[in-house]
Amino acid sequence: MKVIAGPASQLLACRIAREMGIAPSLVEFRRFPDGEAYTRILDDIEGSVAIIQNTLTDPDFVALLQLIDACSGAEKVNVVIPYMGYARQDRQFKSGEPVSIRAMARAISADSVFTINIHDEDSMQYFGTGATNLNAAPLLGQYIASLKLSDPVLIAPDDGALYLAKSAAGDLGIDFDYLEKTRHSGDTVTVHPRELDVGDRDVVIIDDIISTGGTVAEAAALLKQQGALDVYVAAVHAVLAGNAVLRLFSAGIRDIIATDTIDGGSGCVSIAPLVARALGSL
Ligand code: R5P
Repeated sequence: MKVIAGPASQLLACRIAREMGIAPSLVEFRRFPDGEAYTRILDDIEGSVAIIQNTLTDPDFVALLQLIDACSGAEKVNVVIPYMGYARQDRQFKSGEPVSIRAMARAISADSVFTINIHDEDSMQYFGTGATNLNAAPLLGQYIASLKLSDPVLIAPDDGALYLAKSAAGDLGIDFDYLEKTRHSGDTVTVHPRELDVGDRDVVIIDDIISTGGTVAEAAALLKQQGALDVYVAAVHAVLAGNAVLRLFSAGIRDIIATDTIDGGSGCVSIAPLVARALGSL
């Protein structure tokens, strides 16, 4: 199999290729004078290929479509989208809106597609057959266990992220819980871990995406008020938009633990072994 590194995922693609014991194919990317993207794979397109490219930005998405087309001569085209953008617009919230993830997924034509912790697993239906969503949370859990924190507890900011806390904890013996809102009256709401007391414990807030950091900053403040010691954040996708990093550290976050689905960020946990295993099983 050949590993084709998209412009947004070069580092991860190199790590995946290394795991597979091969060298990544070289690709030329540049822009025409009018701003359009030019893409050329500098390798023979034959056998099976695996294109690694996240779709964080619109140009990233265009590059992915170009690479898929450039691989038309391959026997099998496999696509790995480490961070699948537009996945949070997974329904029509207001009339006139698109289901953006559906529009994006339908445009991706490949023999197999792999995503990593897509925002909602139900969105996988839009890719058609041959699409698999991989779960990087156990890798985050192993890294967290290696930190030797003080009586750690994993806290999901809502029940939607509870599966991440549960699968990160796995059989490592780490407690996990999620934040629940209790409405006491029309305008009084308290937020607290559903079952566990975080007092005098190190806490890791775990979520799929950190974008603006707002969700985690709010959760961190609450957990500190409830007596948590050090508060870390773990995320599969460290989008870290705008001044999210400053916002998190100002909210008292001790450190950011993230995977490398997004190149050039704070990813200290590589998903390369997970992806290489999935590609190797094709
Ligand atoms: C929301 O449903 C997601 O799971 C994340 O909680 C959210 O995307 C985080 O966004 P932000 O960092 O902007 O609060």
